[in-house]
Amino acid sequence: MRIYISDLKDHVGQTIELKGWAYQTRASKKVKFLELRDGTGIVSCVFFPADCGEENFNNFEQITQESSLKVTGEVRQHPKHANVYEIAVKHFEIIGKSENYPITPKEHGTDFLMENRHLWIRSKRQHAVLRVRHEIVMAIRDFFDGRGFTLTDAPIFTPAACEGTSNLFETKYFDDKMYLSQSGQLYMEATARAFGKVYCFGPTFRAEKSKTRRHLIEFWMVEPEVAFNDMYDNMDLAEQFTEYIVQRVLKNRAEELRVLERDITKLEPIKGPFPRLHYKEACEIIKKENPEFIIGDDFGAPDETIISSQFDKPVFVHHYPQAIKAFYMKEDPKEPGYAMGCDMLATEGYGEVIGGGQREESVEVLIQRIKEHGLDQKDFEWYLDIRRYGSVPSSGFGLGLERAVTWICGLPHVRETGSFPRLYGRAYP
Ligand code: 4AD
Ligand code: MG
Repeated sequence: MRIYISDLKDHVGQTIELKGWAYQTRASKKVKFLELRDGTGIVSCVFFPADCGEENFNNFEQITQESSLKVTGEVRQHPKHANVYEIAVKHFEIIGKSENYPITPKEHGTDFLMENRHLWIRSKRQHAVLRVRHEIVMAIRDFFDGRGFTLTDAPIFTPAACEGTSNLFETKYFDDKMYLSQSGQLYMEATARAFGKVYCFGPTFRAEKSKTRRHLIEFWMVEPEVAFNDMYDNMDLAEQFTEYIVQRVLKNRAEELRVLERDITKLEPIKGPFPRLHYKEACEIIKKENPEFIIGDDFGAPDETIISSQFDKPVFVHHYPQAIKAFYMKEDPKEPGYAMGCDMLATEGYGEVIGGGQREESVEVLIQRIKEHGLDQKDFEWYLDIRRYGSVPSSGFGLGLERAVTWICGLPHVRETGSFPRLYGRAYP
């Protein structure tokens, strides 16, 4: 049986074998320490000549940073710290000696680290971020799977633009032109009419030629869609969903949040209900601090920060001007000119993490909108069919996974939230 560092507590007093990589080494005349990393944790391996013999003690110098190793030794309770174990080494063997490892404990610039992303992911911080990401992914799936939603993943090659044509990735599909999906929403609207409550969760693409701390070119989005839900039901769902994810990370990933030095007192209050602001109310708040803001415009990142700084919970903004929203958004019949869209802004200035709303259900209105937005109706005939055959109100939203990870981990930039991020100007490694 393979023993991992995370299981050491069950093997105290036993002599076991671990396999991993040398994270750090430290040596004095009488005792030498190897920090061994195996993906599940890091353990101190102590070299005493009395335990490991002179030969192993002297060969310790061959262990370079990130060399892969097999270490045999006795598992001991740490003399000072409860629930911490160490290995009294008896023997070790180098499996693959590491060359001069480029990522040393000193400070490195971001470009260098991004260029070495394939190695950088071995470091403690990156490890913690990716673990939190995994927990969020599991929480997302458990939330919807536990509430009767059916997973109906959307295609990545798509003939139609969902979120406007300005940031579409065009690609060849044999002799045809296709796009990489910006959102699975239109397909979820179809599957919601088949299953009632659905979601998709997969990669989406936006050719955004901007270098910001929030924008990726390729990102993962989870998109639930519920037939018969209106915009208010949609905010209820998004609220329960957000609370579930944040509280679950707090419960299951406390150690990772500690490594990341995340101020968890900022996450603890994230429980519903969240404040809900009409676009006009949000504009009033913005205007006080940013008089230049033009009512009718979309919010910039600084405007979103102004709004979120008023609250210790995420905040919904709904009823954006129809003119700045996508073609499928339902206009509020009680408030012409305003769309029944609702976005959720994260706390602490992390910006929009959820975008969604209620969909237009009239085929005539949609045809008109498709024209106004300069889209080609023939690409949308199947979408219009959803309205032709038993149209109902429906609502849904999209949560950008990497933005959620950035927020929950408290990171300065979205680039650290995936193993191999795709950014404007960077697609290596
Ligand atoms: O607000 P967006 O564009 O909404 C949609 O795509 C809808 N069709 C979703 C739906 O209703 N089913 O994108 C949704 C979320 C944003 O709130 C943000 O979290 C994330 O996707 N997002 C990005 N994340 C990283 N990089 C980008 N370039 C992103 N663009 C959007
Ligand atoms: Mg949006």
